[in-house]
This record gives sequence, C-alpha cells and structure tokens, in this order.
Amino acid sequence: MSGAGIPAQSLPLAARAPGKCILFGEHAIVHGRPALLLAIDLFTQVGLREAASLRLNGSAEEAAAHPYLRTAVARLRAPGAPPLEVTVSSRLPKAAGLGSSAAFSSALAAGLLASGGGASRDRLALEAFAIERGAQGVGSPGDTTASVAGGYVAVNGGDGRPLWELSDGDRRWAVRRVRDPGWVWLLAYSRVPRDTATTVRAVTERLARPDGPELLARFGDVATRGIAAVAREDRAEVAALLGENQVLLREVGVSHPRLEALIEAIAPVVEGAKLTGAGAGGSIVALPRPGSEVDAARRIARAGGIAYVVRAAPVGAALIGAAPTAAGAGD
Ligand code: MEV
Repeated sequence: MSGAGIPAQSLPLAARAPGKCILFGEHAIVHGRPALLLAIDLFTQVGLREAASLRLNGSAEEAAAHPYLRTAVARLRAPGAPPLEVTVSSRLPKAAGLGSSAAFSSALAAGLLASGGGASRDRLALEAFAIERGAQGVGSPGDTTASVAGGYVAVNGGDGRPLWELSDGDRRWAVRRVRDPGWVWLLAYSRVPRDTATTVRAVTERLARPDGPELLARFGDVATRGIAAVAREDRAEVAALLGENQVLLREVGVSHPRLEALIEAIAPVVEGAKLTGAGAGGSIVALPRPGSEVDAARRIARAGGIAYVVRAAPVGAALIGAAPTAAGAGD
C-alpha cells in the first residue's frame, strides 16, 4: 500500500510534508541508480486561502520570485480560479540538503490537489516531482518521493511491488517501501548553504569522464547493499556502508572541509557517517551509538554545526486536520 490519497477539501486548508535525508545513493540516483531515503520528522507546513493576488507569506514579490510556487500554481490551480495566499513555516533549514524544497513542493501539491478535488498518492508523487524538476531543471524524484511516501523508501532497489514508478523520459525510478528499523539518526547542517542544481550538474560532468560508469556501478552496489542491510536491521553493515558511500562522494568532488570536520568531530560517538544530499556544503547524516545522541549533538554544536536528532516520519505529505493518511512505515 502506498498510503491513502489526498481527499478533496475546500479552501482554506493546511498541509504538511516531511523533509528527507539520503542514506545511500545521492547523485547516482539522478542517473537511475539505486538509493535509500528516509523521510525525517521535521516538517514544512503550508496554508492556502483565496486572496486578491498570488502572495507568499503576505508578499506578492516573494510569490513572483518563487519558482516552486509559480510552477505549482501553473500546474495545479485551475485557470480562472481565484488567486491564492500561501503561508509557509518550516523546521527545515533551506539549501542544507535536508529536503526543504521537496517538503515545500509536496505539501503545496497536496494542498492544491485537495482544493482541486483530491488525488491518489501516486499522482501526488508525480506532481511533487514535476514541481521540483520544473523549478530546479535537473534532478531525480528521490527527495519528493520520500516526502510524499514517508518512512524509508528504496528507489530502483528493494523487494516487492513498487509503490509507484516515475520517469523523465530517459530514466525510470521505481519506489519501494523499506521497513522502518526504528533507529535514531543525527543530522548536522554545516551552515554552508549550497545549490542542488549546480552540484548535480558538476557531478554529472564528473561522471561523463571515462571512469564514470565504474563509479556509478560502485555507488549502485553500496546503495543496494545498504537497502538490504537496513531491511535486516544490520547496524554494523549500515555503518560500514555509510563510510564506503562517503569515500565515493569524496571521489566525485562533493565533500567539503566543513562536512569532513563535522564527521571527524562525532567519530568517537557514532557508528558511521557521511554527507547527505547534494553535498558541497549542506549536511551530514550519522548513526549515533545508542545513548550517544545528545553527546553527538553537543559535539556538532562545538564544531560549529546545527544538529537535529531525528527518526523516520511514518506518514508522508498530508492535509492537516483531515482524516489521517495511512502511509505507515510498514506498508
Ligand atoms: C539532492 O537531495 C539529491 C541529489 O541526488 C539530487 C537529486 O536526486 O535530485 C544530489
């Protein structure tokens, strides 16, 4: 089961969606390789109501300059329907690799689809990806998929029937549920913002070099083994694979001295760590030794980062105040 769809609801309404972290396979997923993502229990909330003109947090200028909002409204607001006032609040840092734009796209798509008569979860996944791709120009559906599905999701890997499949014409991404092992993760933002599209383009160029196919195969192998290790709750193997994935990410040039400093600062109290998301700044993800979460967070603060202790968000994008969706992590 991929979770309930988005019910029809009239305006005003509110929706929310979780951010994400990528445990294995960032960048390689753009090229159709396997990845494992986790929707995290830090959310973005959007409110939608009718207004005299399109506004974002009260500002027409902010709305006009916001490619995600403009793409979403162009796709999902019926021509001739009254303009919208959109309000956003979020616990996710922006440009940090933790899925703030995916959460915004997914929550906004859920709200717009609800006000347009409701939709299936597959359609929500497709629209959230289309908004992010339309605004960003490049990238995979990984981030929006995690935000729509909730829990742990394998892309182009894992077992069983796909929740849904997405394509951009050239590449296909099949999305499968991975059971939530209930682990606590530490995320840490380096305070170095970065631009996903620029980083994706740089890595795509790097992967066009002669050793690109071999590198992609190694990324795919680590992610495939990581998906299996999480599914059988093998922490030692997951920790080792986080390290292997980080070596590959360094090799394609997306680590950063601030990320390496954070990884070093927490090494004594975590089982494994790597950067997460596009890299070149942004954030790291680590599997803390059980009971060491607060110690790890303090070490991050002393090293100049911002720590978040998270678990899986079991439910993906949903209306607030509507009947709960059932995208349980075990489905
Ligand atoms: C960004 O969070 C993850 C990347 O793999 C880009 C993408 O999948 O769209 C770097």
